[in-house]
Amino acid sequence: MIVGILGRGRMGSALARALAGQGQSVLIAGRTHAVRQPPVLAAYPEIHCVPTSTVVAGADLLVLVLPFAAAVELALDGLLDDGRGRTVIDATNPTTAPAGTTGRGRSGGRLLAELLPRWRVVKALNTVPAGMLGEPVLDGRPVTVPLAGDHPSAKIESAGLLRGLGFVPVDVGGIDRAPALESLAELLMAIDNQHALRGRLGFCLALPDPSAMAQPSTTWGGRAPGPAAERQRLAPPAAESIRSPLGRPPRPSR
Ligand SMILES: NC(=O)c1ccc[n+]([C@@H]2O[C@H](COP(=O)([O-])OP(=O)(O)OC[C@H]3O[C@@H](n4cnc5c(N)ncnc54)[C@H](OP(=O)(O)O)[C@@H]3O)[C@@H](O)[C@H]2O)c1
Repeated sequence: MIVGILGRGRMGSALARALAGQGQSVLIAGRTHAVRQPPVLAAYPEIHCVPTSTVVAGADLLVLVLPFAAAVELALDGLLDDGRGRTVIDATNPTTAPAGTTGRGRSGGRLLAELLPRWRVVKALNTVPAGMLGEPVLDGRPVTVPLAGDHPSAKIESAGLLRGLGFVPVDVGGIDRAPALESLAELLMAIDNQHALRGRLGFCLALPDPSAMAQPSTTWGGRAPGPAAERQRLAPPAAESIRSPLGRPPRPSR
């Protein structure tokens, strides 16, 4: 699979290196010097610095790791029109969002999902500091990565990528949950600043029963889950994803 990355800053470069470390082919673009390989990426033959249009055309899965406003601009300019039903992971945090796009009930992830109808948008990785990519374990526990989106197959694809990077993906529901993920990222950034952790922190979900993840719950006031068949499709990866941190196998699936 070819992973396309838009944004070649701290997060984009760290993600590219982590993926290359897994032997994954990566196409990556920044805004400037589009095809010049920065020294920090030059050591990786798997990573190809190319123009934005080449990334969009050639990626099997795309990850947005540029400023949120720049992602909105690319979408509005039509540079992301060629979606073809592919998966795009929105890892942006709308810290410098255009007025009216975020705030209670609105979110960057939801806005991008509206702007990118030809893509299957998954909000994920925005809660992971760049410093955790390539080193996803803290205090002996792999970091949890919540992901939200309206397309189960896109979440399964994204979960596979995250698992390959050593994280524990957790499906938190539809793209309507993106505001919660953006708030979580804001909280983690505040804790990072407060304690000068330099990006070495993460969220690890503790659960009483690993198989609980195969049964979407409305306990916290969430919306009712989708059709049973869809839940069934999601169950195996979700159960597998939480097996390793708890060190025991999930219950046999129904
Ligand atoms: N840093 C983190 O730990 C972290 C963690 C989670 C999520 N995020 C999110 O990831 C995004 C990037 O963060 P960052 O820390 O990596 O920022 P950064 O270091 O400032 O890098 C931003 C990158 O985006 C590129 N860019 C800007 N406008 C662009 C455009 N129109 N087309 C293509 N590329 C463009 C820049 O290109 P040039 O270099 O050419 O200017 C630069 O490579 C943000 O939304 C942030 O909230 C960051």
